[in-house]
Amino acid sequence: MKIGIFGGTGLDDPEIMTKKRELRFDRSKVQNGANGKNADYGLPSDSLTTGIVQGVECGILSRHGPGHSYSPSSVNYRANLLLLDQFGCDAIIATYSVGSLREEIHPGHFVIMDQLIDRTQKRDLTYFDTKPSSWPGVCHVSFGEPYDKQLRRLLIEGGKEMDFPIHETGTCIAIEGPRFSTRAESLMYRQIGGHIIGMTQVPEAQLARELNIPFCAVGMVTDWDAWRGEDSPVTQADVNKLLQSNKEKMIKFLKTVLPLLKSKANFPVRKRPGEGHMLSV
Ligand code: ADE
Repeated sequence: MKIGIFGGTGLDDPEIMTKKRELRFDRSKVQNGANGKNADYGLPSDSLTTGIVQGVECGILSRHGPGHSYSPSSVNYRANLLLLDQFGCDAIIATYSVGSLREEIHPGHFVIMDQLIDRTQKRDLTYFDTKPSSWPGVCHVSFGEPYDKQLRRLLIEGGKEMDFPIHETGTCIAIEGPRFSTRAESLMYRQIGGHIIGMTQVPEAQLARELNIPFCAVGMVTDWDAWRGEDSPVTQADVNKLLQSNKEKMIKFLKTVLPLLKSKANFPVRKRPGEGHMLSV
């Protein structure tokens, strides 16, 4: 079994691995789409660091690249997912630093996401975008449940062993950034059902769905965003303050969850990109 891990702000160096190696993306070998055509989606943020964590073969990719060189809007999400695909991962665990939109979700807590609201504005949302260099067709994935149920169940099971709070559900609002939200926006996001807020959750989950890779998402809460009257709105300094302790918690969580996946997960044979979804050509 191989697990792909997206590290973002806070989990961007794979020091938890042994037997580390670098896997470079091969742009000429993008896996065939459902119609058997290769395509070109550019280059990922970095090479993939592969290695072993608690007996499980993993590949960790820092989505923002070395030295945080890509903003949420300029990350090449499509190539990043394809690099994990070339690694041959059976599933992906994506980690994100997020703000809280709820009184009960405190900085330092984790949230296993179950829903997503897309407020981004300028991202490549699909591999099937009808450009000549893309796989042909238009792919309408089913996305009522954006995250894989089996993976979520096992993360929840692993979360019960942690000595810090892990919320078992949560709707994430994904904004374009790079600025944080105004107070009015933050209040609106609460009203429309958001629990946490971040900038990079879209389009990772939907691209993984197009590639037929089981995908789940964990938010590490760093701040209260801007809705709370008694606090000043979030700053980058607030986020930075929590990064180190959240990273240590995430390492602990992954070290618990990965062996659980190895012993209990049952991943079906992977279909090709677009296969099994409504695909009109
Ligand atoms: N990442 C961490 N905190 C955030 C916030 N409050 N809004 C958007 N992205 C975030």
